[in-house]
Amino acid sequence: MTIAITNSEPRTEGARTFLARRKKQLFIDGTWRDASDGDFFETFDPASGKLLAELAGGTATDVDAAVASARSALGSHEWKGLTPSARGKLLWKIAELIDAHVEELAELETLDQGKSYKTGRFGEIPASAEQFRYYAGFCTKILGTTIPTSIAYQPEGKQIFAYTTREPIGVVAAITPWNSPMLMAAMKLAPALAAGCTVVLKPAEETSLTAIRLVELMIEAGLPKGVVNLVTGFGETVGAALTAHPDVDKVAFTGSTEVGKLIVRAAQGNLKKLTLELGGKSPAIVMPDADMALAIPGIARGIFSNSGQVCVAGSRVYAHRTVFEEVVEKVSKAASALKLGHGLDESTDLGPLVNRKQSDRVASFIAEGTADGAHIAAGGRQDGEFGTFFEPTVVTSVRPDMRLMREEIFGPVVAVTPFDDVEEAITYANDSPYGLAGSVWTQDLSSAHRLAASVRAGTIWINCHSYFSPELPKGGHRQSGWGYENGAQGLENYLETKTVCAVI
Ligand code: NAI
Ligand code: MG
Repeated sequence: MTIAITNSEPRTEGARTFLARRKKQLFIDGTWRDASDGDFFETFDPASGKLLAELAGGTATDVDAAVASARSALGSHEWKGLTPSARGKLLWKIAELIDAHVEELAELETLDQGKSYKTGRFGEIPASAEQFRYYAGFCTKILGTTIPTSIAYQPEGKQIFAYTTREPIGVVAAITPWNSPMLMAAMKLAPALAAGCTVVLKPAEETSLTAIRLVELMIEAGLPKGVVNLVTGFGETVGAALTAHPDVDKVAFTGSTEVGKLIVRAAQGNLKKLTLELGGKSPAIVMPDADMALAIPGIARGIFSNSGQVCVAGSRVYAHRTVFEEVVEKVSKAASALKLGHGLDESTDLGPLVNRKQSDRVASFIAEGTADGAHIAAGGRQDGEFGTFFEPTVVTSVRPDMRLMREEIFGPVVAVTPFDDVEEAITYANDSPYGLAGSVWTQDLSSAHRLAASVRAGTIWINCHSYFSPELPKGGHRQSGWGYENGAQGLENYLETKTVCAVI
């Protein structure tokens, strides 16, 4: 079957105007400019194969300029001199501008990344605005403490007065992946700016368009010069230069565990602070008493949404043997019912993967797995004129040692495995180097919370999967990362504590 590509043109004036200016530059020190060597690279619509824009391919020289600008803005009157209330208003204004351009941003995200329009329009773009709104409120509530001390050696007649202040951590490099480009950028920019940091943003080379548009909106909101710099380009050049840069204080990264490890090494020179949101292989445990009316659509959505290109995707389902057949059959039915097409087509449930390389990667997992005895219950094939689509796929008979079961696929592929008792389910669920998220499906309160305590992961959902909100901390245990984004903890990543101890 070849998917018919219809409705691949954006409808909003904003998206059309944005795309009409074909060449996209870097934004450094308050001005748009070409890369230092004049290089551009192309970005495509993965569903239609159309060229969307040419993006400046930043260099190490550009990174130096962007970092210098961020450093200078950090102490500037225009930024450091803003009251917390004024900083909060600025963040709120960014949120309002995102909301005002929600349709246009959702169209750009669909064209660049492939995801269905409704995912952007009703999910990720409003969620990006919410990030700024949530952290806007923190600006006026970043507090130190006064600390009564017990230090014994006070000079005669003197006292000790001690307190802490919170300071921005400094210049932040924000490096984002291609799966949810706008939201990933917002999740880093909003808390960084709330804390008073300055930022160099490097979006994924595959999907930089909404980051560029977001920077335009931030300028419109009145963000002072140098506070946010944008350097588009490749991981091996821009990403590597940023993470090794001696004047970058912190890296906020979302992406693969492999690159996360490279960043740890690159950061050692000046011991940068790191937050790493890395890969996952999240389990979903279905108990015999699960409410199937919730579980089946929840599990299907948990793995298939955004064509499985979600760090927390529930790619390993463990179903109690009494419900195993039912889960396989019904999740397969749900998979086959999903309509693949261009993301801008309103009837589309799933768009393509981000590019052919990613689709080939997913296909290689299926080819290797089936050669090794895995059984395909639904889907399993690439599709579309450019091979960028992948059918939502359900696989059974996947052994724990198979690559299909161990590695992050980042595609719409779920392995379903039966278990006999809850201890076995926990052992299976924890048999992974990752620990990002997981879900448990049961109507029994005790077993729900016991399982939540037993599965080693940063987030556990009960009778749902992939539920996010800016107030819920999100982070990975084990090789899924370091640190937490969202919530009050998300702000902590961008703050230092200074202790002041005085004899008075
Ligand atoms: P990646 O980890 O290479 O890309 C993420 C970001 O890191 C991009 O902005 C990229 O330019 C940058 N980057 C790459 N090399 C770098 C380096 N040496 N130093 C600094 N930054 C660097 O992910 P990739 O290669 O695009 O995708 C490969 C696999 O990674 C996917 O199939 C998926 O399994 C996983 N992945 C997981 C994500 C998650 O959120 N869990 C997100 C993206 C990818
Ligand atoms: Mg890469």
